[in-house]
Amino acid sequence: MVITRRDLFFEARAAIPERNAAFEARELLLRALSITKEEYYLHPSLPVTPEEEARFRALLSERLAGRPLAHILGEWDFYGRTFKVTPDVLIPRPETEELVEEARFFLTGNEKVLDLCTGTGCVGITLALEIPGLEVTLGDISEPALEVARENARRYPAAKVRVLYDDALAPSKEPYDMIVCNPPYVSAADPPNEEVARHEPALALYGGEDGLDFYRAILRYRLSLLPSGGRVVFECGDTQSRKVAHIMETFGAKAIRIRTDLSGKGRIVSGERP
Ligand SMILES: C[S@@+](CC[C@H](N)C(=O)[O-])C[C@H]1O[C@@H](n2cnc3c(N)ncnc32)[C@H](O)[C@@H]1O
Repeated sequence: MVITRRDLFFEARAAIPERNAAFEARELLLRALSITKEEYYLHPSLPVTPEEEARFRALLSERLAGRPLAHILGEWDFYGRTFKVTPDVLIPRPETEELVEEARFFLTGNEKVLDLCTGTGCVGITLALEIPGLEVTLGDISEPALEVARENARRYPAAKVRVLYDDALAPSKEPYDMIVCNPPYVSAADPPNEEVARHEPALALYGGEDGLDFYRAILRYRLSLLPSGGRVVFECGDTQSRKVAHIMETFGAKAIRIRTDLSGKGRIVSGERP
């Protein structure tokens, strides 16, 4: 019996228990067949070879065993660009695009920006590409994450970025005009789902007992290093924005803003040094 590209797509779509099963099925098929989306849509009824079918089934079983699609593909899209992803970094999330939006709102073009807790580097690299005059630093404490950030920086040579070790929980002396940060913010009371807990690095997830350790440390050690009017822009969990805004107030930040995501939840909190 002849098996076509479309047969494999339908099979995977039915098997994958996710809301975006059609997207996932298509991505697995494109990867197994080494074809583009356009090639698939032009010729969906082409027969597949036994090797292609075997490759596809291997990828599908990995996905059905719970391995994230981003890890199978080795890359993931963020803000319209594709970034390398490994199990050493957080998979970029669509909510984080709002962090970029909020930072862009305040940047004019020649500032020094620190993307702290950078992971893949997707936030800082995106800012550097969207606003070419910026000098962006990508900082993390995970060496493997810094290596991924370096590779992503090489993917986008137009981005003016440097990559360095920077411990967000420790004092710092480096002055920046803005700090953008999506830190680990999972709390003991609100653990992540099983797929996230099993496959994404603990170092990228847990932010202490109440999930807020990073916000306190970054404001304590770094707010006073910003120039007057310089801003810290944070992403936080969907129940944390008021608490983060309160921590900002406690440390003396002014002009605090909470930005809501598409579903109306406060996810981005920013404030400035008076
Ligand atoms: C939630 S992930 C965010 C990754 C990326 N910014 C994003 O939004 O996709 C948090 C990152 O913080 C890093 N991290 C954990 N502890 C850190 C620390 N003390 N100092 C700096 N980075 C840290 C982790 O390695 C991880 O890459």
